[in-house]
Amino acid sequence: MDQTITLALAKGRLAEQTFDLLENMGIDCSSPRNPGRQLVLWDRKNDIRFILVKPSDVPTYVEHGVADLGVVGKDTLLEAGKPLYEVLDLTFGACRLCVCGYTDAGGSPVTRSTFRVATKYPSIARNYYGSRGQTIEIIELHGSVELGPVIGLSDVILDIVESGSTLRANGLTVLEEVCDVSARLVVNPVSMKTKRERVQQLIAGLSAQVEKKKG
Ligand code: PRP
Repeated sequence: MDQTITLALAKGRLAEQTFDLLENMGIDCSSPRNPGRQLVLWDRKNDIRFILVKPSDVPTYVEHGVADLGVVGKDTLLEAGKPLYEVLDLTFGACRLCVCGYTDAGGSPVTRSTFRVATKYPSIARNYYGSRGQTIEIIELHGSVELGPVIGLSDVILDIVESGSTLRANGLTVLEEVCDVSARLVVNPVSMKTKRERVQQLIAGLSAQVEKKKG
């Protein structure tokens, strides 16, 4: 049985920080660090294949088993809602998912009967408000979500807050914290069985690196 391990990584900062950990484990990440236009990269010696994809596509590749493991933000995982094993909190990429808006409704130009939430995370928003029985209208956006309340498209946003500077620059504040977010290692349930030894070895190695970083 083919025991090649395929790792799906979210292009950008999360991938770079994953390479740091993998290199400390003796895995050669020189080719995925400099991929050019290539999307499939290898460490041939360790028989590890890397695929570099959009963050929101990582859960899809792992769900279909074309990637055995993936590294992706908890926000993306929650939104995707796929049946994957989340095996390790890698701790980097830390931020919070929050509901943000104006502290007093008077500051908002929005006055309508339906409560509108602008977000890149429609599924998380539906679950969050649904669990407390609040009916909302979701406005799905794909970026610059903070514009929602500022321009009168929505009452609040549900979005990632990292430094808080985007909120401050737009006169908004955190109203509610939904959950903490960081990068997570996920595994395809079938790979967990069929490639058990190799998968467990990678989980253990990454886990040791995370602990070492914590000091
Ligand atoms: C994210 C997020 C916020 C901002 C939060 O957007 O959607 O807008 O970062 O970071 P901060 O608290 O450090 O300001 P991103 O930069 O990914 O751009 P986007 O709005 O185009 O999605």
